[in-house]
Amino acid sequence: MSAQIKSSGAPAQSSAPANKPWSGRFNEPVSDLVKRFTASVGFDQRLAEFDIDGSIAHARMLRAVEIISTEDLASIERGLSEIRSEIRAGTFNWSLDLEDVHLNIERRLTDLVGDAGKRLHTARSRNDQVATDIRLYLRAAIDYISDQIRALQTALLDLADKHTDTVMPGFTHLQVAQPVSFGHHLMAYYEMLARDASRYADCRKRVNRLPLGAAALAGTSYPIDRQMVAKALEFDGVCENSLDAVSDRDFAIEFCACAALTMTHLSRFCEELILWMSPRFAFIDIADRFCTGSSIMPQKKNPDVAELIRGKTGRVNGHLVALLTLMKGQPLAYNKDNQEDKEPLFDTIDTVSTSLAVFTEMVPGISVDKDAMRAAAAQGFATATDLADYLVRKGLPFREAHEAVAQAVRFCEVRKCDLAELNLQELQQFSPLISDDVYASLTLDGALTARSHIGGTAPARVKSAIAKARKALK
Ligand code: ARG
Repeated sequence: MSAQIKSSGAPAQSSAPANKPWSGRFNEPVSDLVKRFTASVGFDQRLAEFDIDGSIAHARMLRAVEIISTEDLASIERGLSEIRSEIRAGTFNWSLDLEDVHLNIERRLTDLVGDAGKRLHTARSRNDQVATDIRLYLRAAIDYISDQIRALQTALLDLADKHTDTVMPGFTHLQVAQPVSFGHHLMAYYEMLARDASRYADCRKRVNRLPLGAAALAGTSYPIDRQMVAKALEFDGVCENSLDAVSDRDFAIEFCACAALTMTHLSRFCEELILWMSPRFAFIDIADRFCTGSSIMPQKKNPDVAELIRGKTGRVNGHLVALLTLMKGQPLAYNKDNQEDKEPLFDTIDTVSTSLAVFTEMVPGISVDKDAMRAAAAQGFATATDLADYLVRKGLPFREAHEAVAQAVRFCEVRKCDLAELNLQELQQFSPLISDDVYASLTLDGALTARSHIGGTAPARVKSAIAKARKALK
């Protein structure tokens, strides 16, 4: 995770009582329990650097439209830069009394530069501030995750390249169906990840809009320049309605839906790795550095990494439902409910990002037992469809060909042999159309090579799919 989107994790102190900036209209301080209950600084401090970026852009705009002086702007920039250094150095003193990341930074700014710091919040509310911070944060996370997906796709292409003619059984219903190459199988995941990447790119467009200027909910009476702020923060534009800008979190929900799909794809892949590593399959081994042992059974080597990724998919799916539920009953505009958007969102980002990182590292650690894969493909009559297709080419209608091959399979089951092991005479009992050119259709490699159309498993076709994918990734 890049430094900017990582949590500093510093605990918030509740020592020196600091008046909340909004305490003026209250007759008594907030109770300790409520203070702890309503504070978000424990988890929203990870927005700090984006909060500072947003404040700098806001202050420069306030200067440009002559709401604050040049001197005030200089003080604000100097103070915020110092605060940034303190946060990076881990010396910033987070206070629970100051509720959230925004009030903590603002108070420190005022401590550092005096009145100029108090002017920063002109024409702004925490409502549009927090919405801006989350969007900036999420945009950085999306860019990071998109790079991670590309890295995983590259790792898959490298492995697929080595296995375009490695035959394995393709399954439907987890029963042997037809032979495919291991490379072709890997490329299926490449495709899923390509769709994931395009979903994040699409989601990013809706994330990348500026809420600032909406203020609390209705906009502001100051002559602000929202386009200037949008440009400075590299947003594609502004949120067009102030109520919507501060209240909706659909962009975060959408991101969580993208993440749930990424995790679902990784989880399916993990499930397969786990099955394939079982001695019942024995198709692959995963390098020791990605496995763990058992404290009681000395022989065990468990694919824990794959199992954990599969397991973590549950919490990411859960976060999606949490955010949907968070939103569904809220009247316009901002409600404190929205503070609850952060932990699910942050955990989703952390989980998908860590899972992608560890999965990508694991891919080169997958070693393939080609013989075991081939032997398994030879066992379940994987070329039965090819025999039926052969009979169709000889003029038999497909349904009759299907029936003839089904009889041949039953015969083989009794004899405990494969179709390719029957001699010509034996095969001809099922159809007189069969001649000795049939054997080309019955071999695993023949079946593979025959599927040479776009999207097929023929080695040459998979090679060109890989080449096309490499170009697309550039
Ligand atoms: N900590 C708050 C949040 O995460 C910031 C916005 C608070 N606004 C307010 N009016 N209380 O949503």
